[in-house]
Amino acid sequence: MADGIEVAKVGDIADGEGLKVSRIRTGTLDDIAVFNDGGAFFALDDTCSHEEASLSQGWVEDGTVECPLHAACFSLKDGAVLSLPATKGVAAHRVEIVGDAIVVHPAADRLA
Ligand code: FES
Repeated sequence: MADGIEVAKVGDIADGEGLKVSRIRTGTLDDIAVFNDGGAFFALDDTCSHEEASLSQGWVEDGTVECPLHAACFSLKDGAVLSLPATKGVAAHRVEIVGDAIVVHPAADRLA
């Protein structure tokens, strides 16, 4: 799936919020969480690398998302883990804004 997938409109995700997009729609191994951090949009695999929490339900701040279950932090830019208890990052996906559409380009190694 080389083409991007429109997952939402820019106005659908408020600043500081995340939106979970089903893997059925994205064709990826995991659901994808799309975040709005100050008007910049990012996409990560949704499932926290620590346990099974949904990062789309986390707290977004200053380029990071904090897992809602045990508070591990991940970089929105590249999915790198920034704090315990998680010890592994999560995959990041390229996001493109086309008009008012949020288009996600899933990472090739995360396609189902
Ligand atoms: S499930 Fe995310 S830090 Fe534990």
